Amino acid sequence: MESSESLRYSMRRFPLGVVVVTTTWGERPVGMTVNTFNSVSLNPPTVMFIADKSKGNDVPFRESKKFAVNFVDSEEILRVFSITPVQKRFEVVKYREEEGIPVLIDSYAYIKAMRREVIDVEDHAIIVGEVLEVKTIREAKPLVYYMSEYRELCL
Ligand SMILES: Cc1cc2nc3c(=O)[nH]c(=O)nc-3n(C[C@H](O)[C@H](O)[C@H](O)COP(=O)(O)O)c2cc1C
Repeated sequence: MESSESLRYSMRRFPLGVVVVTTTWGERPVGMTVNTFNSVSLNPPTVMFIADKSKGNDVPFRESKKFAVNFVDSEEILRVFSITPVQKRFEVVKYREEEGIPVLIDSYAYIKAMRREVIDVEDHAIIVGEVLEVKTIREAKPLVYYMSEYRELCL
């Protein structure tokens, strides 16, 4: 079997979109940057992302009913939601609650979804959600994650 290092090596060379997924867990807002978000189905509109079970990243999304997908074009925010200690993230990034879910104020678009299923695949879990609402707020300059860095697109 191939080593996980070879898979990491090739995935670093594959450009991926990045978003911040958020939810409320134990009455506290939680969120993380992911590069595994995608749409799954259009009818009904369904989305997914993949959470790392070895870090416990799946737990808040397994144990809450809804989540939000925040499309952000700020490297700073993407860094906060992957590096800053989990308890401090919502102290430094502004958010509001919508139907009990934290939505980042600086998102250029966001999706609210109802968790539908969680599919365990080895050390990760695919979190699948049915889309409740999609809002586009403004034009953006989205970033992609490539070779372990956030990069601007040359448009
Ligand atoms: C660009 C980028 C993409 C990431 N994508 C994922 C992902 O798809 N799934 C995941 O569980 N963690 C992902 N992470 C890691 C989480 O953001 C991180 O584990 C989470 O915020 C919890 O922080 P902690 O590991 O410091 O507790 C990613 C990190 C970065 C920098």
